[in-house]
Amino acid sequence: MHRLAILISGRGSNMVALADAVHAGAVPNAEVAIVISDQAHAGGLAKATERGIETLVIERRARTREEHDREVIAALKERRIDLICLAGYMRVLSTEFIEAFRGRILNIHPSLLPSFPGLNAQQQALHSGAKLSGCTVHFVDETLDGGPIIAQREVAVLDGDTAETLSARILEQEHQLYPETVATVLNRIKSAQV
Ligand code: GRF
Repeated sequence: MHRLAILISGRGSNMVALADAVHAGAVPNAEVAIVISDQAHAGGLAKATERGIETLVIERRARTREEHDREVIAALKERRIDLICLAGYMRVLSTEFIEAFRGRILNIHPSLLPSFPGLNAQQQALHSGAKLSGCTVHFVDETLDGGPIIAQREVAVLDGDTAETLSARILEQEHQLYPETVATVLNRIKSAQV
């Protein structure tokens, strides 16, 4: 059984999509072992608890990135986590974190990377006049939203779109793409172990 950790900072709709897909058997041989938030008031925490998933809040407080990450790494190792899914986790990971789980950290981003990395990707797409945007699941490395791309889904930018309407249509695709991609990645990990 692959043990997943999902890291969030906010509402956690991708976390819910992943957890529900796992529960429905759409991500074979997987369980969501823990949801970790760096924000005590993240809306996603209650949704994880409702689903019977362990939650943990690890706030940054006055610590450095390294100190904060060390606590997160320890929590992940203690629970023998195989794959970490960032889902709206609004923190850049330290090198130590990335090295501890290299090739086992995924992120979802609301644009067709390498276009529009960083914050407000949907707004960036609108400003650029792009007719096509979408979402990307990628491995996390030391670069900002720059790690190897695993899967993408296109979403058309429509005339009259606002950041809200475009974000909502991209989000719908995110909720399908993330569980599908996690299943693919776990399958590859399994084949590599055989
Ligand atoms: C999503 O758009 C995701 O792509 C980005 O942050 C947002 C998180 O939304 N990284 P949610 O917390 O999963 O609802």
